Amino acid sequence: MVKIGLIGYGYWGPKLVRNFFDDSACKVKTVVDLRRESLEVVKKYYPSIRTSTTIDEVFEDSKIDAVVISTPVSTHFSLGKKALNQGKHVLIEKPMTTSYREAIELVNLAKKKKKVLMVDHTFLYTDAVPNELGKISYFDSTRTNLGLFQKDVNVLWDLAAHDISILTYLVKEKPQSILASGISHTKNKLENIVFVTIKYPSGFIAHLNCSWSSPVKIRLILIGGKKKMIVYNDVEPTEKIKVYDSGYKIMNRKDPEKFQVDYRIGDIHIPKIELQEALIGVTRDFLHAIEFGSKPISNAALGLEVVKILSLADKSMRNGEWPMKYEKSHFNQ
Ligand SMILES: NC(=O)c1ccc[n+]([C@@H]2O[C@H](COP(=O)([O-])OP(=O)(O)OC[C@H]3O[C@@H](n4cnc5c(N)ncnc54)[C@H](O)[C@@H]3O)[C@@H](O)[C@H]2O)c1
Repeated sequence: MVKIGLIGYGYWGPKLVRNFFDDSACKVKTVVDLRRESLEVVKKYYPSIRTSTTIDEVFEDSKIDAVVISTPVSTHFSLGKKALNQGKHVLIEKPMTTSYREAIELVNLAKKKKKVLMVDHTFLYTDAVPNELGKISYFDSTRTNLGLFQKDVNVLWDLAAHDISILTYLVKEKPQSILASGISHTKNKLENIVFVTIKYPSGFIAHLNCSWSSPVKIRLILIGGKKKMIVYNDVEPTEKIKVYDSGYKIMNRKDPEKFQVDYRIGDIHIPKIELQEALIGVTRDFLHAIEFGSKPISNAALGLEVVKILSLADKSMRNGEWPMKYEKSHFNQ
């Protein structure tokens, strides 16, 4: 039975605790948070879980096998490093760290210590990632709401992390260039609106629109494939995915005079998807990797790749909105 210690019982932490608590393959032993009032809630709902305001209660407890980190992003690296150094398996919230250099250090440390390092990229467990599209040519995502302005990271690191994890999972090639543009309307200079364009060598293109400043909550992804196109609307309660048997073919490609587009507008299919909470998939995948040595879907390499793309997008914003080459990228932050 895997014994779990969780650090950070704010907005997301309680959802993780609930899912681990309900899983008979583990026992949540300790929850740590700096705020006593959060711990009072833990005590009320889970009297069997020990609570503390001291993180060493988790790190120095030799009975705890795995640490779950659901604190603000800027703390992920130091807490993750400490947990791995203490010989714990680690599930860390998305994104893994705030820099590529830190993410590499964690991945290498996990390898050296032979421990599972997994990132909670929850969307990879929604059962919605399609496989019938044919060759994909574009990915267009809007992830906006009147969101909670984070104090330590901009909207790119907060929201685009979701889309970049889906992209990294879906698209097997590496990007060619990453261009980002954003604006901060606050004194702390953290961008609250960001647009990112990622180009790939095959001609595939991705565009992400992320904002904490929209009057409405939109969670919409359009994916264009050669065979089918999909609309994934995560705000819809039930019919989240619609698969369009639509497309187009360019006729007389070689002769611009006779250039023609042949459109195909077919049926719309609404696949039945499991509406179970995606976090169940995350917690099970983590526990399975610890018990059986399996490779999680949201594994450390995927988490590292997400941080690399986020870092390049951030660099593009800092460098006068100039496209960053993926292959030639070097990081010294
Ligand atoms: N996977 C998802 O879909 C998803 C959704 C929301 C948030 N998140 C991630 O979860 C993490 C937490 O986000 P949140 O919205 O819950 O934030 P939050 O601010 O609501 O909660 C963070 C909690 O961590 C505690 N904390 C901070 N530093 C600590 C430390 N050193 N030791 C112990 N406790 C500490 C705070 O007191 C707070 O209760 C972030 O990384 C965020 O990106 C993921």
